Amino acid sequence: MEAKVTGPNSLSLSDEIVRRIHALAAISETPDNLSRIFLTPEHRAAADLVMGWMRDAGMAARLDAIGNVCGRYDGERTGLPCLMLGSHYDTVRDAGRWDGPLGLITAIACVGDLHRRGVRLPFAVEVTGFADEEGVRFASTLLGSRAIAGTFDESALGGRDKQGITMREAMVAFGLDPDHIGAAARAPSELLAYVELHIEQGPVLEANKLPVGVVTAIAGATRLAVELRGTAGHAGTVPMALRRDALAGAAECIVAIEEFCSSDRDGLVGTVGYINAMPGATNVIPGMVSFTIDIRSPRDSYRKLAVTDIVRHIEEIVKRRDLQLDINVTHENRTVPCAPWLQKHVAEAVKAEGFRAFELPSGAGHDGMAMIDIADVAMLFVRCRGGVSHNPAEHVDDADVEAGAKVLLRLIENFKPKG
Ligand code: GLV
Ligand code: MN
Ligand code: MN
Repeated sequence: MEAKVTGPNSLSLSDEIVRRIHALAAISETPDNLSRIFLTPEHRAAADLVMGWMRDAGMAARLDAIGNVCGRYDGERTGLPCLMLGSHYDTVRDAGRWDGPLGLITAIACVGDLHRRGVRLPFAVEVTGFADEEGVRFASTLLGSRAIAGTFDESALGGRDKQGITMREAMVAFGLDPDHIGAAARAPSELLAYVELHIEQGPVLEANKLPVGVVTAIAGATRLAVELRGTAGHAGTVPMALRRDALAGAAECIVAIEEFCSSDRDGLVGTVGYINAMPGATNVIPGMVSFTIDIRSPRDSYRKLAVTDIVRHIEEIVKRRDLQLDINVTHENRTVPCAPWLQKHVAEAVKAEGFRAFELPSGAGHDGMAMIDIADVAMLFVRCRGGVSHNPAEHVDDADVEAGAKVLLRLIENFKPKG
């Protein structure tokens, strides 16, 4: 489609963005709650929808070797390095519709606006929809952005989902070649910067009555997988003193983690978000339990110490209860600082749109944690209602969608590569 030259940006971008948020949310494994998981038919359908929007916005669009959607809007001439924008389009289970898609869809809308006005910049603009940021299916995360950063760990291909399907098998079933993930990698020379718009997923912007915020850093995280083994037995016959109950042991571990992280440790947070007890029957003492631990802090040294202390607590509990323990780190990411020069670009765009340039760290993980290996990273946060996220009640007001889009568009048009 030929680009039409129109006047400067004055139209509302939020109508289209909100419509597309809802259209993408309709692509879900389960009709009553949103779950869009890596390497599933829903991943494929979402990729096709997003690539169509990219093409409508004047971009060349393709699916890369791990299932990221990649759109490119050339600059004043072809082959220029790019300002990369984007976010992820996978979701957690029973998800909200804004976590990830808002950044991706807003970036496409901004490029569409440039395209409609016939604007070409002295750099290319690329928009990436990352295929797996949440890490729901396999015991690893940031798979899409790690592939682009060239840091994808091939051993992840052997990881299995809850049905026992390996990532390698899932990739083949999806139509991708697990032996060519390296083809997704981009060279640092191709990128001028990576900027992501994302909902805040917390209550700070709302408390400050601000629609947008400038992110200073993305907090580091460690995830662990724990397995406790005791002895399954009859719920009616084994006296309490003779039991090796793996679930009661796990319960004690979970409370110990909560207590440890609650005792004022400067932003340290710990979560057990998944647990499975086997064999899982009312009248059987649980013989085996697996659960996950997620530990985060804006300070890497605190997080590392906390992980060591928590593992020691678990070992003590397990020893006292005569259980067997298997504990493994499944994910570890350092705190990623946003580049000061790029943060300044974000702050200037925020101010130019009439808002206060309020700075805040991100407690949530983002694809920038992987992209930092090939580009300087910055983020723009958009307020979400009540700070609620990873929850179907997640919501962003139209006016805040519009504010985020205007700031991002301003940032793109005023962007100057690091001098
Ligand atoms: C991603 O949403 C994460 O912070 O775990
Ligand atoms: Mn998320
Ligand atoms: Mn997210």
